[in-house]
Amino acid sequence: MQTDNIILIGFMASGKGRTARGLFRMTGKYAVDCDDLIESLCNMKVKQIFEEHGEAHFRQLEQLTADWIRLHLRNSVISTGGGFLNVNGFKQLGTIVYLHGDFQYIIDTLYAHPNAKKKIKKRPLLQNMNKAEELYQKRVPLYRQVADLEVSIEGKTTDTICREIVCGLKLCV
Ligand code: S3P
Repeated sequence: MQTDNIILIGFMASGKGRTARGLFRMTGKYAVDCDDLIESLCNMKVKQIFEEHGEAHFRQLEQLTADWIRLHLRNSVISTGGGFLNVNGFKQLGTIVYLHGDFQYIIDTLYAHPNAKKKIKKRPLLQNMNKAEELYQKRVPLYRQVADLEVSIEGKTTDTICREIVCGLKLCV
């Protein structure tokens, strides 16, 4: 099924949420974040869900969220968690845009943020950087396999990234 949603994918901390908000400002498409939906549904933070119920349960919540998106969301820009692309029916959710940066670029940018500590602490799969890098290496080919468009984030402002997405998807206003 063809929908007019834009689905943003990419590794943890690659700026999917802020890009979704930038696209909202540029296109008027409402911006929704999958982790926010899960957190409000459960009234728990992602970190707490991992700690109390385990990663497998979190993945089930991602599937529930994907099914709901497929049925109900249109004309929206949807930022996803880094592992969301593994849900069944992912390609049917909309046009998929992969935000790519090298692992070291993403981590350096994260550490340079004033809220770095908080941003790392809230992500259970970023607690061990060696494991995170392994996960990154496994994920990149998967992101590329499902993406309709790939945009490099390196050295670019959110505005530039959003403009490249708008033009790449021929949404030029
Ligand atoms: C995850 C990424 C996180 C969040 C959860 C698992 C992953 O979202 O969904 O901690 O598997 O890569 P961000 O990509 O927004 O950090």
